[in-house]
Amino acid sequence: MILPANIIDGLDSGVVVLDANRRVEVWNDWMAVHSSIAASAARGRDLLDIFPELGRSHLLQAVERALNHRLPTVMSHNLHPRVLPLFNRYGASVEPVEQSVVVRPVADGDSTGCLIQVADITAAVKRDRHLRDVTVYNRTLFEMAVDPMATVDRAGILRDVNPAFEGLAGTQRAGLLGSRFDAWFTKPVEAGRLIARTLADGRANDVLLSLRQADGQQRHVSLSAATVPGRADGATMVFLVARDLTERIEAERELARKTRIIEQSNAELAQFAYVVSHDLRQPLRTVSSFLTLIERRLGEAIEDDLKEFIAFAVDGARRMDRLIVDLLNYSRVGRQDAPLDEVDLGASLAEAMANLGTVVAESHAEVAVPEHLPRIMGSRSELVRLFQNLLANAVKYVETGKRPRVVVECRDGGSDWVLSVRDNGVGIPGDCLDRVFGLFQRLNPAEHTEGTGIGLAVCRKIVDHHHGRIWVESHLGEGATFFVSLPKEGATPEG
Ligand SMILES: Nc1ncnc2c1ncn2[C@@H]1O[C@H](COP(=O)(O)OP(=O)(O)OP(=O)(O)O)[C@@H](O)[C@H]1O
Ligand SMILES: [Mg+2]
Repeated sequence: MILPANIIDGLDSGVVVLDANRRVEVWNDWMAVHSSIAASAARGRDLLDIFPELGRSHLLQAVERALNHRLPTVMSHNLHPRVLPLFNRYGASVEPVEQSVVVRPVADGDSTGCLIQVADITAAVKRDRHLRDVTVYNRTLFEMAVDPMATVDRAGILRDVNPAFEGLAGTQRAGLLGSRFDAWFTKPVEAGRLIARTLADGRANDVLLSLRQADGQQRHVSLSAATVPGRADGATMVFLVARDLTERIEAERELARKTRIIEQSNAELAQFAYVVSHDLRQPLRTVSSFLTLIERRLGEAIEDDLKEFIAFAVDGARRMDRLIVDLLNYSRVGRQDAPLDEVDLGASLAEAMANLGTVVAESHAEVAVPEHLPRIMGSRSELVRLFQNLLANAVKYVETGKRPRVVVECRDGGSDWVLSVRDNGVGIPGDCLDRVFGLFQRLNPAEHTEGTGIGLAVCRKIVDHHHGRIWVESHLGEGATFFVSLPKEGATPEG
């Protein structure tokens, strides 16, 4: 033997030497430990006798090749994973030794023997398996991710993409890999800058870019990028995650477009209402003044029924004028130029009462108002009109002959003030509580009480303008209470 026995026994791999008859000559300690067969028990025995399971195995064929044809055989782990029944024992656990085996002929005096070397590659095999598991796991995550992902190298070339990215670009992998990343964007310079910045800083977040799909359509994406550090080949890659914002951005744009159209048509409508009502009043005035002239010209000779007809016509013109004036006022509420100031609600209420002076006096109404009312940010003239309309209604919609009693109150509603105007009038049926705030909505036939049905519509517009709320609670015949809640902070300046 070339090597002394103690060296062979000290080796950290298996060594078996067989003579020309396949009988064991050398069986080192490593073999003894991993096969649980002592050298003394192995020596002199046929290898097949020791391991009957080798039968017609590749190892046995390799041994025959070495003994009979002097040919070596390398048995790689991939093809021949566990050539010999060898085990590693750790305490109570036993696991097979993953092996890489080399069989080569050796001169044995005049005849030819054979050397079997067994290397334990269990650790490497385990590491490989673990690595493969990790790779498969990560790849699966990458492939299944809903967000488009890609890797780009230092030169700005796309190196990997996931299916979501293929979907985003509208192109298969093959059409993406190897292409320039920046070339896919409507602003290639900015896309290139994103890669450069990521390479310099290590990351970049939420960069908005538009990607041009293969068919020319654009997708708006938010890109986040980070460098992938510590690659074995030392190359730095940029890892990108995209979020497709196309739907959201387009919805926002559509909303802005519609808002613009609505604002424009609102402004036009307001202008229209203003011009129309203004211009309508002039011919109306002509009608009533000439009617009056006709009446005067006819003098005493005028017949009673003709007199009555003329009176109806004049009254009609007067009512129509009132309608136009009310409409005009309605169209003015909340106009951009209405000034917002600190307004004393007490003063507004007092002014409304003063404006209603004769109405209140004639009806002998009793109106109770709170001693103190808060101040808010708002439009003074509008708040006066709000009180005036509510009080006028409270006094007006009472059974004939009954004395109107009205109570105005204000309570603290936390973030807003809640004003209420309670009356003892005819009340409002439950199914009309919302309807009364609509334009031209009147519940009582026109003959009974005068009015155009605009008052509460104006109130609602004023309250909207102040970012508040208006509603009514009532039962038919038991009076009504109108509530107005106004934010303490007041309306925001844009109105
Ligand atoms: N306090 C109330 N009690 C009972 N019914 C009411 C009360 N206030 C309003 N209403 C009903 O709601 C309708 C609409 O009121 P609104 O103030 O808008 O119009 P109007 O009083 O008829 O006319 P104007 O435009 O002159 O105010 C009224 O016609 C009336 O039928
Ligand atoms: Mg009214």
